[in-house]
Amino acid sequence: MPTTGSHMQRLALILILATLPAAADLVLSAGQPVTIDLTGWTPPNITDVGQDASGTLIRYGYLLFTDTPNQIGPDIADISRRFSGNNLACQNCHLRAGMQPYAMPLIGIQGQFPQYRAREGRIDTLGDRINGCMERSMNGRPLPLDKREMKAFIAFMGWLSNGIPTGARLVGAGTLRIKEPQRGADPAHGAEVYRETCSPCHGATGAGVRAKNGAGYQFPPLWGVDSYNNGAGMARILTAAAYALHNMPLGTTFNTPLLTDADAYDVAGYIVSQQRPRKGGLDRDFPVRLQKPIDTPYGPYADGFTQEQHRLGPFAPIRMKVRQMTGAADPGAPDNGSR
Ligand code: HEC
Ligand code: HEC
Repeated sequence: MPTTGSHMQRLALILILATLPAAADLVLSAGQPVTIDLTGWTPPNITDVGQDASGTLIRYGYLLFTDTPNQIGPDIADISRRFSGNNLACQNCHLRAGMQPYAMPLIGIQGQFPQYRAREGRIDTLGDRINGCMERSMNGRPLPLDKREMKAFIAFMGWLSNGIPTGARLVGAGTLRIKEPQRGADPAHGAEVYRETCSPCHGATGAGVRAKNGAGYQFPPLWGVDSYNNGAGMARILTAAAYALHNMPLGTTFNTPLLTDADAYDVAGYIVSQQRPRKGGLDRDFPVRLQKPIDTPYGPYADGFTQEQHRLGPFAPIRMKVRQMTGAADPGAPDNGSR
């Protein structure tokens, strides 16, 4: 019957129009990405994940992320699963299972990759990026992409990214920059800040406090043999300072900082001045040298400044020179997460 048919068509059209705005948002976002504010985002709950095969993989990824040293740490019984070189957990840095804004959260991360990464000078997949932290923050070896552990990490991060469109601009990703003092960091003053504010948990020697049970830490080390290596993002002063200011002491959030910007800068200067494992081959990082974050503590550099100044600042002169050399608006910006 023609009436019913056209009624059906009209209904169909109305339905299409009703769903259009949402679809159009995503389509039009090709030029102008949607913005998702992670500081107002309700993270998913791991207890809601199902018992089917995909749920099991997500829950294994969550376990790997939060209990890393007992799963793939250097001291576990199963030698074939020893991938980390230290006893840190991913969550020791990516707080609250990767859900804390400005603690390098991994919510929405799936839609941020593949991504050009200056450190490798090429397009990285999410698996490559996870292995970046495996080889540096965990001072370990890369997980083969077809290994169950890698698939679990990726499934977990996919689950964390549910509801966030591919390529969205994420507010709350990475770390929040500090207001950088116009001087080099003062590690001697940083040592005082450390003694008063950090050592009650992380210990006078920075070695942390081991967990009562198992391989991990109650308070993780900030330097020394069981810490991240010198190629890790946390080994750069501006990343460590931003992280500390907006997340430490534990319980601090980006909008309730306890330290001053200057104290965060100095305490980070003290921490990056300590001994930690050294990664080989770091001279091959950042093949486009002028894309190197200005606080990278290892050379070679293309801007003529010393290693010492790259390690502790002052950074304004370096930034100005690199800006002159490249024309980049924010040269040597911290390489500390999706934005
Ligand atoms: C109340 C205890 C406490 C205090 C005080 C504290 N932290 Fe932490 N910190 C922690 C805990 C616990 C973690 C690991 C968090 C987790 O696993 O959920 C951590 C993690 C970290 C990390 C990342 C993990 C690592 O091993 O590097 C850094 C960096 C850090 N803290 C720096 C600092 C600095 C700098 C200070 C002083 C300004 C400080 N913390 C004060 C408890 C504390
Ligand atoms: C010592 C601290 C630390 C630990 C431990 C750590 N990470 Fe990271 N991670 C970082 C920092 C800092 C960044 C930001 C990039 C940078 O500066 O290198 C980062 C970035 C990432 C990113 C990219 C985030 C983005 O926004 O683009 C992923 C994915 C990631 N880490 C996964 C992991 C996994 C998986 C583990 C455990 C196997 C882990 N990380 C352990 C410090 C850490």
